[in-house]
Parts: sequence; structure tokens; C-alpha cells
Amino acid sequence: MSRALICAGNWKMNKNPAEAMAFADELSKACTADEAKSLVLFPPALCISSLTGSLATKSIRLGGQNCHWQPSGAYTGENSAEVLKSMGVTHCLVGHSERRQYFSETNEMMARKVKLLQSLDLMPVLCIGETLEERESGETKQVLERQLHVGLSESVDGKGLWLAYEPVWAIGTGKVATPEQVAEIHLFIRAWLKQNKPEFAASPILYGGSVKPENAKGLASIQDVDGFLVGGASLEVSSFLGILRASVG
Ligand code: 13P
Repeated sequence: MSRALICAGNWKMNKNPAEAMAFADELSKACTADEAKSLVLFPPALCISSLTGSLATKSIRLGGQNCHWQPSGAYTGENSAEVLKSMGVTHCLVGHSERRQYFSETNEMMARKVKLLQSLDLMPVLCIGETLEERESGETKQVLERQLHVGLSESVDGKGLWLAYEPVWAIGTGKVATPEQVAEIHLFIRAWLKQNKPEFAASPILYGGSVKPENAKGLASIQDVDGFLVGGASLEVSSFLGILRASVG
């Protein structure tokens, strides 16, 4: 039975406003109204205002890549979730591994960001994942458990949540996790939610890490894979839509 999968594109620090607008025009012409419902784009914050018009014509949703845990204040260089919301953003990534790795973001910071986003009725997309070293030393589930336990320690009941499992060793490396690895971890995350945060037990769990049109179908058929968080392949309309079409086809 086919189900509605989510296809989320994280552009990271790529594209300028003109390039973003060209992408949005191309995407909104190429996708059907039904496909558009499955798509969420996470452009750099500096491109968001140039995207809202053309994406809105197809109801393609927009997300922020990061936000501060306070709605406003003396935090030079940070993005305000309140402002993101006022720009039409509905989702925001929290704890992407690049934020953890290059900006020393901690699980405690994630918890505060999840709380703020949920209290603003924005959808947090909490990203979790282990490094290669952690996997090889058999610590994967402990690491994920800690990221979930602390990251969701301030979550707000009755609000939405998405999760993204992104093994760090599969991000931008071309090394996609095997279907067995993905199935095992998504099942583990689902079970953890059921036991510890039952209010979020039905939350979508996305997989991210070198997803391409060629491997999307196999990954999409795994139970508890509710969609993808796509980096490199979301930068071109053909591969981004190709992932969605392969995964539902
Ligand atoms: P790639 O698809 O380029 O591996 O990136 C995954 C990712 O980090 C999405 O957030």
C-alpha cells in the first residue's frame, strides 16, 4: 500500500536568492499539487523571503535550518524562530549533525529549541545520528537514546514533532546506510518513542544520508521510514523530485 512520504530538502549553505527563486519556479511547475504536499524545503535563511511567493502557489512548505532557543534578544548572528514563522516558515531543523559538529551544539540546546518551536506551533525536525567511530565501537543505540532523551526532555505535549535519523558517516559521503541498518534504527526509534514519549509515537521518522533517486525506492519500502531528509540531491529539481517519485512509484 502506498503512503504519503515526506521529501525534505536541506540546501545547507548553498544557493543565493536568485538561484533559489529559479529553483522554486522550476519546482512548482514540475510537481503536481499532490506531490507538492510531500515536499518541504530548508533553504538558507537569507533565501527564505525570495521563495515564499512561488512556493506558496503550490503550497510547498518551507523550513529553517536552525534557530536560537530564545525568541529574540542579544544573540548576534542567530536566527529567530518567531521571525521565521512570520516569514511563512512552518518547520525548523534542530540539531543537524553539522550544527553539532562545527558549532558545538549540545543535546541540552536541542531540548530548548524543540520547546520554543513547539510553543510557537512550528514543527521541530530533531536530527539524530551516530558518528562512524560511535557505530564501530557499538555505541549507536546509546548515542541515539541520549540524543532522544535529552533532546526531547522539554518537549510540549499536544504539539507536533518530526525526527530525522541521519548517520553522520552517511552524510555527503555517498555511503548510504544499508536497508538493514536503517530498518533496525527506525524500529529502535519508534520503540523508544512508544515507551518514553507516547504522545509522539506516531511522529514521522525521516532518513537522511546520501539519499538519491537510485536508492530511494528501496529505503522507502522500509517500515517506519516516513520520508527523507535530502542534502546534495535536493539542490537540483530533477533529483529532488526524482527521489519523491522513486519512493512512491
Ligand atoms: P546528503 O544527502 O548530501 O548526504 O546530506 C544529508 C543531510 O545532511 C540532510 O540534512
